[in-house]
Amino acid sequence: MCRAAALVVLFALAPEGRAVDDPTKVFEERILPIFKSPDPSSCVRCHLAAVDLKNYILPSAKDTFLALRDQGLIDIDKPENSKILALINRGANDPKAAGLITAKKQKAEYEAFAAWIRACAADPALRNAPKPEKVPALGTKPAEVVRHARKDRMLESFEKNIWSLRFRCMNCHTEGNPQNDKLVKEYGERVAWFKKGGPEATMEYLLASKLIDLERPEKSLLLTKPLNEVKHGGGVKFVVGDQGYKAVRAWVEDVAAMKAGKYEKAADLPPKDTAPKQFGTEAWLKIEKTPDAWGDKLLTVEVFAWDAKAGAWEREPVATSDRVVFGKGKVWQHTLTLLAIPGSDRAKAWEKGKPTLPAGKYLVKVYVDSAEKVKKDWKAKLGADEFAGQIEIQAQWREGYGAMTVADASRAKR
Ligand code: HEC
Ligand code: HEC
Repeated sequence: MCRAAALVVLFALAPEGRAVDDPTKVFEERILPIFKSPDPSSCVRCHLAAVDLKNYILPSAKDTFLALRDQGLIDIDKPENSKILALINRGANDPKAAGLITAKKQKAEYEAFAAWIRACAADPALRNAPKPEKVPALGTKPAEVVRHARKDRMLESFEKNIWSLRFRCMNCHTEGNPQNDKLVKEYGERVAWFKKGGPEATMEYLLASKLIDLERPEKSLLLTKPLNEVKHGGGVKFVVGDQGYKAVRAWVEDVAAMKAGKYEKAADLPPKDTAPKQFGTEAWLKIEKTPDAWGDKLLTVEVFAWDAKAGAWEREPVATSDRVVFGKGKVWQHTLTLLAIPGSDRAKAWEKGKPTLPAGKYLVKVYVDSAEKVKKDWKAKLGADEFAGQIEIQAQWREGYGAMTVADASRAKR
């Protein structure tokens, strides 16, 4: 290139008519501070972990350019169409974001990258830089890992596994409930952690609270309180390995692994959750006259609905619950969690309205953990070995502690 032409390029104008800046200077002034900042980037608005704008920056301007270009994240000819800008700008126009600190940060990040990419695109040395033998590697994670740690995905799992538990905590922790109001007066706002705002508000609250121990998830207060391992105002509400414990333990383990960056590749992720959707209810099932052999053991029920058309019990349980049998009183009782395949008519109806079961004929299958299998391995599931009998009932499924549906264990058939 002749000298004159080089000068023309050097003083070329960006499309907006502004003089083009030196890419290295822009990088040092606007991109490096993002790289060096100890604070998370705006991506945390929607990604709980696994992505940060820092992962897309390398200490040198040239390496950053080469790496982003190689990944197809920079569009040299139409800088404003660069994919990295779309990643940064996602949701920027969402009115819900207005005023959020992350939204302001997002705008600043976008403008910094837009200016730098514009400068790079106008720099012939960078434009024409050959692909190096070894392209500098970015610190980004595979798409599966990014997807797993997305807040909307986490919320789905939270809603299914934790939010559905709230009736197990008998409204003691449900904000705005009379039971909770009383406790708040005595213990303060901290007992109102199932938030009035719903699952999202509750998840946000818990993630920012001290109730999750990121280093030792199994020691999270969210587990040790209901276990009464740490003295709990509500007494024993979980035993190791029961349904509530399993749900909370799996969730806090997942959060901790995610936040600690332990998921590097798709294979590190927890197995896909194929279980049915769960819907907490205030319908209680009581099993009375429990035999001595069941006393003080963890008892799980699976409830099957009668399919009149097929003239048979449904194959999959429509509800479940578990708890330790009160041996001295020869009784077991707990709230039911309803189950539905995601996308099924039942799931849709229960998502829209109040989850309930119609009155009718039901089969209650009882499993008793006599060998304390789940205490030894919290992930273990009770099955044929623990089957203790089944009871046919006519159920109304009225709600409330005072209106329990009752099954008589002395009528259990094996
Ligand atoms: C307003 C919410 C929001 C913000 C903020 C956000 N993302 Fe995302 N991100 C999403 C959603 C939703 C998806 C899934 C999009 C899809 O599957 O179509 C996603 C997907 C991704 C993916 C997967 C690949 C792809 O092209 O879809 C990457 C990588 C990613 N985001 C990076 C980032 C980075 C880096 C930031 C911060 C600079 C960020 N995101 C900020 C919501 C957001
Ligand atoms: C009968 C009411 C009652 C029930 C039911 C109950 N709790 Fe509690 N819980 C309390 C009281 C009172 C406190 C405050 C005193 C304390 O810290 O133990 C508390 C405190 C807690 C805390 C500590 C909150 C904080 O920020 O310090 C956690 C976590 C907790 N409970 C979890 C649970 C879970 C999970 C369940 C249900 C599976 C449950 N509780 C059921 C009454 C209850």
